[in-house]
Amino acid sequence: MKRVSVIIIVFLSSLAPLISCNQESGNKKLQHKIDSLQAEIVKAYVPGTGEIMSNIVQPHHYKLWLAGENKNWELAKYESHLLAGGFKRIQKYHRGTTEATAVPMIYPQLDAIDLAIRQHDQKQFDSSFVLLTGACNTCHQATNYGFNVITVPGVKSGFENQKF
Ligand code: HEC
Repeated sequence: MKRVSVIIIVFLSSLAPLISCNQESGNKKLQHKIDSLQAEIVKAYVPGTGEIMSNIVQPHHYKLWLAGENKNWELAKYESHLLAGGFKRIQKYHRGTTEATAVPMIYPQLDAIDLAIRQHDQKQFDSSFVLLTGACNTCHQATNYGFNVITVPGVKSGFENQKF
């Protein structure tokens, strides 16, 4: 019995270098995987602030207005939510920049719009929308993009393929 266990121990210890060798190559493989994942993250697509502005903020600002002017409160609520989503993305993807730091200035204006929407109050909606648009421009000026002037749109839809 003793001899058997001695043989087993000798056998196992002869495996030790093999195991540690395997571990080493396993670690190398893992490191390689981490490196390539890190390279993927660096290459990952991040929407620029200008892109978020023109693809999310600008159209939803416009659609929000059209929905409100048509007293389509359900749609207005939805558009306001998507508009807020654009600003949240700036905070998420551009943390630490001047514009991300300035984003919270827009939230009280959006809250006022949401209140008008909940109360189906057209007059309040209109005046809140003017203030909201003013805040767009205040931030553009503060971030040296004052030449991007945002206006309250007309009531004729520029989105002819959607009902407001
Ligand atoms: C927190 C600051 C901030 C607020 C608030 C803000 N913007 Fe901007 N906006 C910017 C910055 C910064 C740029 C320039 C981004 C760039 O070019 O990289 C910009 C650019 C734009 C552009 C130009 C994009 C183009 O391609 O012409 C439009 C349009 C725009 N904003 C619309 C709006 C609207 C509408 C609102 C309000 C609902 C708004 N923005 C609120 C910071 C802001």
